[in-house]
Amino acid sequence: MNAVPTVHVREAPAETGEGPVLQAHALSFQYVGAPPVFEGVSLQVAPREIVCLLGGSGCGKSTLLRVLARLETTHAARAEGQVDFLGQPLTSPHPRAALLFQQPSLLPWLDAARNVGFGLDFARQPALSKAALSQRVADALEAVGLAGQGGRYPAQLSGGMAQRVALARGLARQPQLLLADEPFSALDAITRAEMQELLVTLVDRWHTAALLVTHDIDEAIAVGDRILLMGGRPGRIVREWRVDIGRPREADAAAVTALRLDILTALHGVRQRAPAAAA
Ligand SMILES: Nc1ncnc2c1ncn2[C@@H]1O[C@H](COP(=O)(O)OP(=O)(O)OP(=O)(O)O)[C@@H](O)[C@H]1O
Ligand SMILES: [Mg+2]
Repeated sequence: MNAVPTVHVREAPAETGEGPVLQAHALSFQYVGAPPVFEGVSLQVAPREIVCLLGGSGCGKSTLLRVLARLETTHAARAEGQVDFLGQPLTSPHPRAALLFQQPSLLPWLDAARNVGFGLDFARQPALSKAALSQRVADALEAVGLAGQGGRYPAQLSGGMAQRVALARGLARQPQLLLADEPFSALDAITRAEMQELLVTLVDRWHTAALLVTHDIDEAIAVGDRILLMGGRPGRIVREWRVDIGRPREADAAAVTALRLDILTALHGVRQRAPAAAA
């Protein structure tokens, strides 16, 4: 029988004894003249861990991810709290914290290989020889199942292939963390399931970690080692689950069904408590 998922409300320490890859403490964020988007958010991601940030539309998931990645640079906002990446305060985007969004945002005039290699020789990366760079690109393309496809241009790629190229672009930076905002939500169901599986495999093989924003409960259960539920106005982390269910996780397994129901109930509770959004 499958184990019933256990619920942990406190942050779990890294099992490896290494420190967390990402640690955020007491983050608050507010656009000037608007109500706070989120308040008092603390979280951490351990090496090789996949943490899913789940929540309803508008609860602040994307804003939180941008704040964690240090992409939120507007002066028309008030931000508080601390973000540490690899044990050091993070104040600007870091090349080893790779980003993945719903749209692959490939440069249409570069082929897949050049898209993957684009920016690899930018600041804060150790200089790479031409041979090392093309090896990195080839390795990353192979990892996402696109070996030998580097000569294709974005217009010649399906949506799923384009998102694989975007994933390879992140991998080529040899990331210690993938920060992903609904990266698979524009894909059809079968491609989405393939990409979820690929993400789990890559996190393991490439010794990285991931923070995945999603509003899809099934996606969170399929890939997450832990699931954080965000909700309320302003947004907060209101619940946390450790997903102690072996992979692959069958959608109809008893433990999956029980966890889905628990999350749905919690999500419903958060929605009922949140005041209606201003028109
Ligand atoms: N530039 C901005 N100025 C003022 N408010 C903003 C701005 N950008 C976002 N917001 C507000 O911040 C809140 C959180 O938005 P955010 O995009 O982070 O939510 P989300 O959880 O990612 O939603 P979704 O699931 O729909 O992607 C929303 O109420 C939104 O209206
Ligand atoms: Mg969003």
